[in-house]
Amino acid sequence: MADTAKTATLTIDGKEIELPILSPTLGPDVIDIRKLYAQGDVFTYDPGFTSTASCDSTITFIDGDKGELLHRGYPIDQLAEKSHFLEVCYLLLYGELPSATKLEEFENLVTNHTMLHEQMMYFFRGFRRDAHPMAIMVGVVGAMSAFYHDSTDISDPHQREVASIRLIAKMPTIAAWAYKFSIGQPFVYPRNDMDYASNFLRMCFAVPAEDYEVNPILARAMDRIFTLHADHEQNASTSTVRLASSSGANPFACIAAGIACLWGPAHGGANQACLEMLEEIGTVDRIPEFIARAKDKNDDYRLMGFGHRVYKNFDPRATVMKQSADEVLELLGVENNPKLQVAKELERQALEDPYFADKKLFPNVDFYSGIILEAMGFPTSMFTPIFSLARTVGWISQWKEMIADPQNKIGRPRQLYVGEKARDYVDVENR
Ligand code: CMC
Repeated sequence: MADTAKTATLTIDGKEIELPILSPTLGPDVIDIRKLYAQGDVFTYDPGFTSTASCDSTITFIDGDKGELLHRGYPIDQLAEKSHFLEVCYLLLYGELPSATKLEEFENLVTNHTMLHEQMMYFFRGFRRDAHPMAIMVGVVGAMSAFYHDSTDISDPHQREVASIRLIAKMPTIAAWAYKFSIGQPFVYPRNDMDYASNFLRMCFAVPAEDYEVNPILARAMDRIFTLHADHEQNASTSTVRLASSSGANPFACIAAGIACLWGPAHGGANQACLEMLEEIGTVDRIPEFIARAKDKNDDYRLMGFGHRVYKNFDPRATVMKQSADEVLELLGVENNPKLQVAKELERQALEDPYFADKKLFPNVDFYSGIILEAMGFPTSMFTPIFSLARTVGWISQWKEMIADPQNKIGRPRQLYVGEKARDYVDVENR
């Protein structure tokens, strides 16, 4: 971020305040208002942060009008096609694509940290059987701070590195065990001779009585889902991780906060909500009824998997996801999957409707991901845990960047107070 020669002038009650304008590598200029309160005795007001940059970052860039998503400068479609998840993890964490040797070292490092402390198994067993796997993930990831004391000191770069690798490595085991617990099956331990995605599929679908042979095409599709979800700059859950971490909280607690935020249906929970919506619609002839509801001002119903705060053209992740859905369903011999048919027709009808066109609402990453995950055998409750597994590397990369940033200070928004003015306490008998 560099100072430009440009400034913005704000006039408040006749007093002029000159504000510096900062220039990013890509994206719109940013007015630096850090000294505004000191100089003008005013705050700015921006609920939902629609116009506010909360940090500088070198990790991910989104151009919502062009439908562009770059990780460290590399377009997501190229990464989804040519790279794989662990390489993208390396890129997000360290800023450059690794050499062959560095990649092998990194993959070995992650692979060798996939096991969980054995005592954590009892922690899983303490949950009710019908607990949502996201509830288990929030609890178990937060509880890692009670099991891995040697990587909670955030002032030590080595401990930060160890915590990062642990989280990326153990998240598939945690997500798979949350699933196994919810269906009453024994936990399956990770295997170090398998790649990241295959290992996750095996931990979810193998049982002691019968091993699970991982189909390489499904493993590739799983890996691509991880890649497409790896990072998305300052979204709600990432900003939650940054805010939690700004107080100096340990990394496991911060990532648990990110998982909690991701759970909501406006964010990561949309993939579950979207598949449930496709199920509810059921057949293509019912689509107009649901579109009408989504357009009705008096109904707060929304098409799940549609719309995005930043993308106002298309979500590049959705394009790759749609192709992947076709490939996976063809492989599994279920091209005529009714939900895929409903999804494609819903997309077609919505995109032709002026309501969605005018508001620039397009399918997002969550629109097709659920169809693939369901075809692979996952129940809807596992969709958001899979998203959180994949997003962990993004949260960690942003967390590491923030801690290393000398400008890092506790996040503390201001408010526009519209409550009562100061008034005297009234005794209960006089109210
Ligand atoms: N269906 C119908 N109308 C919609 C939808 C939708 N899915 N999304 C937005 N709108 C309308 C909304 O009613 C509003 O209309 P008006 O201006 O007349 O009041 C307008 O479009 C702008 O909506 P907004 O809520 O102000 O936009 P936002 O940027 O605050 O919200 C969003 C973005 C993603 C939360 C929203 O589009 C939404 O709720 N979508 C459905 C949930 C979803 O798919 N979420 C996943 C997002 S991508 C993955 C992720 O981030 O985890």
